[in-house]
Amino acid sequence: MTTPIPGPPGWPIIGNLRDVDINDTVRCFGDLAKTYGPIYKLHLGGDDRIFISSQELVNEVCTRKEFVKIPIGSLKQLQHVTPKGLFTAPHGLKEWGEAHRTLTPAFGPLAVQDMFPEMLDVASQAVLRWARAGENNKINVAEDFTRLTLDTIALCAMDTRFNSFYKDDLDPFIEAMLTILKEAQVRSSRPAFVTPFMRDANQKFEDAIAYARKVAGDVIAKRRANASGTQKKDLVDAMVNRTDPVTGKKLSDDVIIDNMITFLIAGHETTSGLLSFLFYLLMTHPGAYSKLQQEVDTVVGKGPIKVEHLGKLSYVKASLREALRLHPPAAVWGVTPLLNDDKDSDEHIVLANKYAIRQNQTVLVLTTTLHRDPAAFGDDGEEFKPERMLDDSFQALPKNCWKVGRGFNGDLQTKSANVLKPFGNGARACIGSDFALQEAILATAILFQKFDFRLADPDYKLVIRQTLTLKPHGLFMYAKLRDGID
Ligand code: HEM
Repeated sequence: MTTPIPGPPGWPIIGNLRDVDINDTVRCFGDLAKTYGPIYKLHLGGDDRIFISSQELVNEVCTRKEFVKIPIGSLKQLQHVTPKGLFTAPHGLKEWGEAHRTLTPAFGPLAVQDMFPEMLDVASQAVLRWARAGENNKINVAEDFTRLTLDTIALCAMDTRFNSFYKDDLDPFIEAMLTILKEAQVRSSRPAFVTPFMRDANQKFEDAIAYARKVAGDVIAKRRANASGTQKKDLVDAMVNRTDPVTGKKLSDDVIIDNMITFLIAGHETTSGLLSFLFYLLMTHPGAYSKLQQEVDTVVGKGPIKVEHLGKLSYVKASLREALRLHPPAAVWGVTPLLNDDKDSDEHIVLANKYAIRQNQTVLVLTTTLHRDPAAFGDDGEEFKPERMLDDSFQALPKNCWKVGRGFNGDLQTKSANVLKPFGNGARACIGSDFALQEAILATAILFQKFDFRLADPDYKLVIRQTLTLKPHGLFMYAKLRDGID
């Protein structure tokens, strides 16, 4: 006997469409969890979708090997752009395995440490720009952190400089990516039958994809011909020259292009959201702000920041983790039970000994709610307290509410065993988590070393904008050079 999954009653044909604010789905899904509890269903797009958000349920889904990743929302739409990219690949795609095995070492902690000079180069451009603009310059926080993260991933992934801090116009490649992301978002929020009628938007989308693929293709061709004379050990080098340890094969150009575009998309939106939320939280929590700045002063001092400082910045790291807990930029991801080879089979799996979930049914994990589950985080789970995220403090938390347990497939060969929950799950967890954290620690440290920050509007109330990921909206701040800094 199974128990029906609760949820709001739907309407004929449109199901629960009216229960969802399509421009703010994450907040809306979280609100529904408050009403219907840690598991509920919505009838959307012709099927029942299941939403889960407690540690107990998420832990079960993350540890049962039947559950595999299913791309959802904008990610599903991006399959059209990067069909064989790591982020968008459907479960079981051969090219995913080849790219995952080939690229995992290139994203390991040591490889990422080697990218420190490029990361520092771009972070220093942010410092210069803010210093030159002066203390009365109103900084659009999410916009400038997007400049920082895009320039960093472009330099580290494909040895390309966008120089976004030096110009007001966006590089055409960035324009193309923004068009792609916007269209993917729009398509994910309307019924699929409408898309063929949107001729102008479709043409713009296809042109942007063609342009992004051409630029990425040119980078590969140059590297293959070594025309730039570079011997850089960056991500392009890893994709072009490394072989899959299992098949002994190199990645095809199509797969490399898919992944280059993937890294640019997946690698900037999220980290820019993380930094923006962190700065908001610090500017509204003076105690944490002072502790963090004191730590930077003690560890780094006034001199140049070095790679060996990063490991000693425990409070900076804890603050970033706490920002990721309260505001995970990639707040919802999807899994589905794979029970046999027939995707339309009626077979089902029983969750928590009572809820039936059909083969191929989408289960959405709501991490914003999960990360505040009082059963795991206690009664102060809504509060920003970096202390709870110091290295020793979160080890006792139950599995899969914060730290990833043994992921899908029990595959401990992947770096996923060390990944934190805001970075997803198991073998399909984020390949770029070390990259993101190193970049974010470095940027936070150098910015707090040089500047004092304050909200431009002291009464600002956090508004979250949802695109592929979440970011604060309308958040502006002032940056004033600190005494003794030149
Ligand atoms: C996957 C979060 C930074 C590349 C994911 C997933 C999450 C995530 C939740 C799993 C999505 C799913 O299951 O559908 C984040 C966060 C970041 C971040 C919160 C920053 C704070 C990065 C960076 C890169 C990157 C910097 C690249 C340089 C990827 C890729 C995947 C992925 C390629 C797909 C992995 C696979 O399925 O094999 N990320 N990410 N991410 N991320 Fe990240």
